[in-house]
Amino acid sequence: MDDKETEAAGERHRVIAMDGPAASGKSVVGRRAAERLRILFVSSGEMYRAAAWRAARAGIPWDVEAEVVACVRSADLRLEQRDGWIRLLVDGQDPGEELHSAEVNRGVSQVAKMPGIREILLGLQRSCARWGDLLMEGRDIGSVVFPETPYKFYLDASESERARRREAQGQEDAVGERDRMDSERSVAPLCVAAGAIVIDTTSMSIEEVLDELVRRLRQQGFTSA
Ligand code: DC
Repeated sequence: MDDKETEAAGERHRVIAMDGPAASGKSVVGRRAAERLRILFVSSGEMYRAAAWRAARAGIPWDVEAEVVACVRSADLRLEQRDGWIRLLVDGQDPGEELHSAEVNRGVSQVAKMPGIREILLGLQRSCARWGDLLMEGRDIGSVVFPETPYKFYLDASESERARRREAQGQEDAVGERDRMDSERSVAPLCVAAGAIVIDTTSMSIEEVLDELVRRLRQQGFTSA
């Protein structure tokens, strides 16, 4: 069944869109919120990371767009549901922790601004809504991937706090530079989607963000299955 047929059959599930800059808390809060609400979790950032990972493994430099796109297009990309997550398998493999290597951190924003890459991943991201109610985190989920969903959030935090969080995770990641590339690109830039609820997490604990998110969702009538 393709996307149109699924929609026609009324099988689209509820989607919570969660966007924001790097290290704003989307992954950890998104994962925990999905667990609490008993819905699926999807990291669209990991899909862009998987694309960058495949290009790196093939030895393709980040700036050779046509080759990066051809490399990702020729891969066998499949979604798999495991432990409440929908993940992208690349040629039957889950790249796991390699998705967060310093090399992928360095190249992923360049790969994510390529229209050919975004087109490939957009179809996969939208198809996730056939699997069940879900929370998807990313940069353009409320603005481009699922603009029709009423449940939209934008998590933010100061740049220094976000850099501190990455360092505390032991990760080499130039968050400010990535944000600039993600916000300034021409296709699907990072932005606050129309109607999104903004939560500044700079001085909030994960628990506090989680409680606020679930409270706002309840206000909007989103209840667990
Ligand atoms: O959230 P993250 O740091 O894992 O995302 C990795 C990169 O992928 C990020 O620098 C921008 C890109 N990205 C994107 O362009 N659109 C998304 N929906 C998610 C991530």
